[in-house]
This record gives sequence, C-alpha cells and structure tokens, in this order.
Amino acid sequence: LPVGNQSRLDHVFVGTFVQSVAFSEMVVEKRVVGVCTDGKIAFTGHEDELPELMQTHGLVEADIVRLGENEFIMPGLIDTHHHAPQYAFAGTGYDLTLLDWLNTYTFPVESKYSCEKFAKETYKKAVKRTLDSGTTTNTYFATIHLEASKILVETIGEIGQRAFVGKVNMDRNSPDYYREETGDSLGDTEEFIQHVINGPYSERITPVITPRFVPSCSSELMHGLGELAAKYDIPIQSHLCENKPEIEWVKTLHPESVAYAHVYDDHRLLTDRSIMAHCVHLSDEEIDLFRKNNAGVSHCPNSNFSLTSGCLNVRRLLESDIKVGLGTDVSGGYSSSMLDSMRQAIICSTAVHFQDESRVPLSYQEVFYLATLGGATVLGMDDTLGTFEVGKQFDALRVNPDVEGSPFDLYEGDTVSDIVQKFLYLGDDRNITHVFVSGKTVKSI
Ligand code: GUN
Ligand code: FE
Repeated sequence: LPVGNQSRLDHVFVGTFVQSVAFSEMVVEKRVVGVCTDGKIAFTGHEDELPELMQTHGLVEADIVRLGENEFIMPGLIDTHHHAPQYAFAGTGYDLTLLDWLNTYTFPVESKYSCEKFAKETYKKAVKRTLDSGTTTNTYFATIHLEASKILVETIGEIGQRAFVGKVNMDRNSPDYYREETGDSLGDTEEFIQHVINGPYSERITPVITPRFVPSCSSELMHGLGELAAKYDIPIQSHLCENKPEIEWVKTLHPESVAYAHVYDDHRLLTDRSIMAHCVHLSDEEIDLFRKNNAGVSHCPNSNFSLTSGCLNVRRLLESDIKVGLGTDVSGGYSSSMLDSMRQAIICSTAVHFQDESRVPLSYQEVFYLATLGGATVLGMDDTLGTFEVGKQFDALRVNPDVEGSPFDLYEGDTVSDIVQKFLYLGDDRNITHVFVSGKTVKSI
C-alpha cells in the first residue's frame, strides 16, 4: 500500500462495495476495506485486515470512514453520449421524430450558444445535473461554436467531472444560421483539440472528433476530421443508424459506400476509438465492420423511445463481440441520469424479447455493467475506470438508502443485493450522497 509521506491518503472506507467485473458478474461484498491514495485505488481487502493496515500506516480511527449498515460504494456512472447544449430543452419536443426534431427544436436552440453568457449559464446547470446524478465520466457533444465549446470544457474542469468533449462539425444540409464553412470547421476543431490537450484539465478532459452525423458533414470535412483523429490519436463520436428515414437519406448521399457505417469507415472515422450512438438498425455487414474495426456503440434507450427511433438488440451486438456502453443522449433522451438509462435499457431489451423470445431481457446486473465497466471499455478506459481494481482511478459514488426523503424504503429481511436492486430501480440523486472523481469529493450532501 503506497501510503507514505509523498502520497496523499484520500480515503479509507469500510463497508459494502458493489461493482461489475464482467458483463454478467456483479460482485457485492460486505466488510470491505477500500483505500484511495493520490486519487487511485491503492488497496482493497477484508475488514479483518484493517487493524494491521492502521498500525503499519499510523492511521487512527478518525482516518476511517465506516459506512452505515445499508450504505454502499459503487463505481461512478459513465455516460457515453450526451449533448450538453440540449439540456436547455430536455423534456420537451417529443412529438416529432429525428430529422424534424433536429430542424424544429434542436438547431434553433444549439445556435444560441454563439452567445457566451448563455453558454456559461446553461452549461453549468447541464454539467452539474449529470454529476449530481452520479455521472463521473461524461461524453459530450458541444455545438459548432469554438468559444462555447471551450466554455463547456472550462465548466466541466471547474466542477470536477471527467469528460470527453467534442466541438460539433456541420458544413452541409444544415440551416444557414447554424452551419460552418468546411475550412473553418476543420481549423476550429484543431484549435479546440490543442486548447484541451494543452489546457489545465488535460488529465481529466479529452477532446473528441465530433462530426454530427453523415448528413451534416461533406466528404471533404469527414476526410479532414479522419486525419485529425489520426494525427492527435483521439476518439471519435457520432450518430449512426438511429432511424429509418436517416438511413435512407445517407444511402442517397453516399451511393458509393456499402452502407451507413461504411461511410464513416471510408473517411477513417470508424476506428477502435469510435463511439457511435444508437446503432439501432445496423445490418449484419455493418456489425461485421464494427467487429473488424473494434468500434464501440453507445446505447441510448430513452432517446430511442422518445424520438420513436426503435429498440436496439444489445445481445445481438454483444454476441458479435462489439463493445457497448449506455448513454442518456440528452435531449433526444429527456433524463440526465444514467439510472434512467439503465432502467430504460431493461425495458428496451424486454420489448426486443417480446419480438424474439430467444432474446432474454437484460438483467439489472448486466445494465449495471453497461453503465460502468462497459462504458469504460467503449471509451478505451477499461484499464483506468469502471471497477475498483487496484491502480484504477477512484471514481465512485457513496449511496445511502436511508436519507431523508429517499424515494424508496427498505424492508426487514432485504439482503444487500435487494438494497442495490432497489436503488437501481427506484433511487435518485438524493441517495447519492457523495461523488468522487480521482478521489476528490465533487458532490457531498
Ligand atoms: N443525429 C444528428 N444529430 C443528432 C442529435 O442531436 N441527437 C440525436 N439523437 N441524433 C442526432
Ligand atoms: Fe445524440
């Protein structure tokens, strides 16, 4: 245990720890000792080892945080797809489907982020909402505006979240009031990348190449973005096969490509660093391409229900060894909370089951994996985030079912697994009393 004079001893917790170490393997352990130093997990063991640990490292009782009987520590939630600017109109506008929704609601609101004051105020609320809901790592689309994208980075940096952030690119099929010139789009993107990687939050915030989706980006722009992704060795995020009219449109725009996913691949935008949102309607050929390139999928069930896009068959992707994480897709999805995303992923998989009984609905343990280690895998961070393996970052939530006003109640005889389940189905921000990112307390109530 590296607790010495040079090390910062952040936390010693004793109590229940919950984590998913594999897709169908959730581990719930009582009487765990978990130690975090210098922002990382330094030690995990059994409570019996505590006296020796205290003696060796000169710890006193005041250094130890003993969790309450029903409290537990779990890995922070990882949102793999989120539009921070769209938080302003989340919860409205679900009378339309994707392409009309973009033109009617989304583009007019996103265009307002040309105003820096509006960006500052709205981004603060959007980011804080996700952190309070337990999202320790978020994956954000900003807007096309360079300055507002920098403001989003600064906001996240100050609030203390870990994040992937992209300045959005759009140079075609977009309204005049919300469209870039190709050269400006590429130039601003490179400036944004350098701003983030040379900035004060580079350990926690990573720039992402963010073509909005194929219909919004010319071939020239996509080629340029593919080059930037390779030059800076950074991730790529976009939308893919979300709804049927969108897919038909891409076919007419790119008859030279085999299918929608192949258009990204043809521009070097479908790599092992790619995070593609939705992928509801992928063909077998596209799934093969995903496997070959080791690209990842962000499943956003709330959005797919709210915009009537369809139900993703998650098991079909996992059986093909494709990386899958969960996203909220605010505000195609109305909720900023990954707890909601987990619940809707279960409902979505149940709808898939009704269509094909051989597909068993996802369990709460499986969606917990998708929201933690699964998301980390999609982001290429599975050696750093998602579980409490020694050496990983201590990004975690402290959960308390017994808070005042808790949205659920415990019943005598509830096991620890029952408590975890009740939190996943019924809990909310009020139960998440503490949020830690790299060991730093970024929420505490
Ligand atoms: N496809 C292109 N842009 C968007 C967006 O903002 N949200 C969703 N859900 N799909 C998109
Ligand atoms: Fe989206």
